[in-house]
Amino acid sequence: MTTVTPLKGSVGTAHTRVEGHAKVTGAARYAGEIPFAELAHGWLVLSTVARGRVTAVEDAAVRALPGVLAVLHHGNAPHLETDYAGLMGNKPDPSIALFQHDRVPHAGWPVALVVAETPEQAREAAERLVVRYEREPHDITFADGHPDAYTAADVPHAAAVTAKGDLETELARSAVVVDAEYTTPEEHHNPMEPHAATARWDGGRLEVVDSNQGAIWVKGELASLFSLDPASVRVRSEHIGGGFGSKGVRAHQVAAVMAATLLRRPVRVVLTRRQMFSLVGYRSPTAQHVRLGADPDGRLRALEHRSLNLSSTVHEFLEPAAMPARVLYDAPAHHTAHRIVRLDVPTPTWMRAPGEAPGSFALESALDELAAKLGIDPIELRVRNEPETGPVSGLPFAGRGLTACFREGGRRFGWADRDPRPGLRRDGRWLLGTGTAAATFHAGALPSTAAVTAEAGGDFTVRISAADIGTGARTALTLVAADALEVTPDRVRVLIGDSDFGPAMIAGGSMGTSSWSWAVTAAAEELRERLALGGGVPPEGITVRSDTTAALAALPQKERHSYGAHFAEVAVDVTTGEVRVRRMLGIFAAGRIVNPLTARNQFVGGMTWGISMALHEEAVRDQASGAHVGADLAGYHFAANADVPSIEADWLAEDPDEDDPVVIKGIGEIGIVGAAAAVGNAVWHATGVRHRSLPIRPDRVL
Ligand code: MOS
Repeated sequence: MTTVTPLKGSVGTAHTRVEGHAKVTGAARYAGEIPFAELAHGWLVLSTVARGRVTAVEDAAVRALPGVLAVLHHGNAPHLETDYAGLMGNKPDPSIALFQHDRVPHAGWPVALVVAETPEQAREAAERLVVRYEREPHDITFADGHPDAYTAADVPHAAAVTAKGDLETELARSAVVVDAEYTTPEEHHNPMEPHAATARWDGGRLEVVDSNQGAIWVKGELASLFSLDPASVRVRSEHIGGGFGSKGVRAHQVAAVMAATLLRRPVRVVLTRRQMFSLVGYRSPTAQHVRLGADPDGRLRALEHRSLNLSSTVHEFLEPAAMPARVLYDAPAHHTAHRIVRLDVPTPTWMRAPGEAPGSFALESALDELAAKLGIDPIELRVRNEPETGPVSGLPFAGRGLTACFREGGRRFGWADRDPRPGLRRDGRWLLGTGTAAATFHAGALPSTAAVTAEAGGDFTVRISAADIGTGARTALTLVAADALEVTPDRVRVLIGDSDFGPAMIAGGSMGTSSWSWAVTAAAEELRERLALGGGVPPEGITVRSDTTAALAALPQKERHSYGAHFAEVAVDVTTGEVRVRRMLGIFAAGRIVNPLTARNQFVGGMTWGISMALHEEAVRDQASGAHVGADLAGYHFAANADVPSIEADWLAEDPDEDDPVVIKGIGEIGIVGAAAAVGNAVWHATGVRHRSLPIRPDRVL
């Protein structure tokens, strides 16, 4: 590890959000509050049965209600095209193809849209709409050993199965074996800003004002669904109040476009918090099986990580929970596998650190169990198992700061003084314990385009179809552009969230800022070189465009990941079973940190979610109805301020990767990876009881 000096001055320096003033004064407008003349409002009606079909939508009475303009359902909706390649090259989830048939595949499936002059009228009519169903028996029971479970299909960047070496032989040769099952529940993103979209036709173009993680993505899918020329569709998304994987293409945008097309006036569809639980995806529950075999010195001989997740009956979604095992530890026998069972529930989706978040809970708990069995310090155990190259790929690592994170974190947390024996420390009625866990998340960049303009007045404008979902991306790109242009950030204006700016990576996979920075840097550097030749700037300015497709294709293949080490101290109430996290520390190695201020937000936000995942979050379904119990922010428990005490995140500088001009690894997701395991490991250290099912609720602790 060496210290990287910021190249030109802005990157690496704390900078408040460039749109911060607009946000705190209310001047920043979100998708659901931008005014439009002649705006009509749509309200979705969701199925109350978990499986069956719609036999009748009795809309006559509702059509006669004041203000009602239309009722759309499978009997009258226009045809949508679903035979196209979506974002990841695969077919879209049919859940977004609204009202194309009478089948109901889960509770909360959209069966109708009521459009009215006001949201209140639309809601009133939607609640009065009578929909008749023919019910069929449903199955919502997720469990390992479900007879219908099958091996998942490969998805891009995640083979379903990897296998090397002879597992049973190496396990038999191992001095110590851990063989344990772990479960994580259904979890929801539910960002602060609900999903909202307004669609309108304007001079032959469809314009959608939306809250999403990629305007270009939503534009592409809407154009495909409605068989429109992509050039005739524009999606804008200026400010976004959180996404976490949930803000892709969803029923509400499709509903808004359908109604706006029919009525030839702007139509807005906003989801309620309760609707979000059914319509915007969630994290699948997982049932995971980990087997570790080691020599007495802690060297792994065998590592097996198998995970089962659920999906809907209409679409296969893989939660690749075994991914961390493919990066963190090697063993002569190394097997990972993903299985799926299809149930009568909505399709899950990406949720902050898909795969890695639940997977790291199982793997990092198992490592802790192994350390205890071996009598080896959990950090030392991990250090002894540092791989030379990618355990599955064999590729070299482009920076691997895991051991450095553990060493620095251990020093700051006071790990050296820890007595490894469980159940020994008391503070009144509280048992105290500490735990640690590793974090990793893949890093990379995907092709993007950007345009940078030197304005005649001397300032610069950057245009890129990036999305700032609350991460601070707009500010980060301002700093990146300023450095590439060798000017101060106040001379750079970054415009984002407009599909007319051309193709760009979405805000996802922790690859937004790195992908966009590649594109912005390429255009800005070329512009700076042009300006250096002299000749002045004409009134229309000078614009340079970039496309990083070729440069990224030429990037040598390596294992590119960020790393981290979590440390948690918990107190467990022996009378109530309540677990309180007293302090938490995360140390990360994630390439160049563009803006320390917003980066800390990202890490701490992820860690907070890790506490939440460890102790609180769990969506519960009612067996009889197949629908959620408590689908709101009161019934769905999550960490609030009082649950998050002293929490610190910091990072280590990394050696730059000579192949990578921006050296940004992405930090949106790694904060949650391993965080729940660190808390769970601390609970074991406090109590001597191992919790292998999340959340660690008081009734499970007692
Ligand atoms: Mo993220 S789960 O890729 O928004």
